[in-house]
Amino acid sequence: MKSMQDEISSLIQDVKSNINMEGARGVRYLSVGRSRTSSKALQAIREEMGECSRCKLCEERTHIVFGVGNPKAELLFIGEGPGRDEDLQGEPFVGRAGQLLTKIIQAMQMQRSDVYIANIVKCRPPNNRYPEPDEVSTCLPFLIRQIEAIRPKVIVSLGNLAAQSLLQTNQGVSALRGHFREYCGIPLMPTFHPAYLLRNPPKKREVWEDMKKVMKKLKTES
Ligand code: URA
Repeated sequence: MKSMQDEISSLIQDVKSNINMEGARGVRYLSVGRSRTSSKALQAIREEMGECSRCKLCEERTHIVFGVGNPKAELLFIGEGPGRDEDLQGEPFVGRAGQLLTKIIQAMQMQRSDVYIANIVKCRPPNNRYPEPDEVSTCLPFLIRQIEAIRPKVIVSLGNLAAQSLLQTNQGVSALRGHFREYCGIPLMPTFHPAYLLRNPPKKREVWEDMKKVMKKLKTES
């Protein structure tokens, strides 16, 4: 159980990161008394999505895959979009690539329930095709609000689409990985997608190098 002092310093930390996040969004004045807990904020975002039909991906999906994990996670993983297993279960990264992601999280001395996992698009693209630009631009605002609600210390983007969408770049993940970038003041480590690792196991070494940097950052970031 947390001591009163821990509670207060965690509250102060929440307020500080909230102010930093608002500052990064260009907000200069904060209104008092409107803050919600991360979990309530996430719930509100999910409710606003409803049975989303804002883009054509709604036509063939089974479930919207909103995201899963600790609403106050220090570490947020962002993938591309749900595959078949995720579409059927309504949870991100539960198929073969997901099992590999779970192993990576465990190797970092954490559990899936410690982190938060989400995707750039929340509905499965038919036949697992690459999400199209209009689908990404329709869905991305919801992810951005999830990031604001969670306010993680570190983001790990998995694969090309996640890095390129969040960093607004055309550079590929091979060029981007290995160094922290920044998303709205939050350190972001681009790395290879677990599905790519299943096809190219030797690349696991580079992902592990990236994850060691992430673990170090999590320890040092206040
Ligand atoms: N690949 C992704 O990018 N996301 C998932 O949720 C599953 C596989």
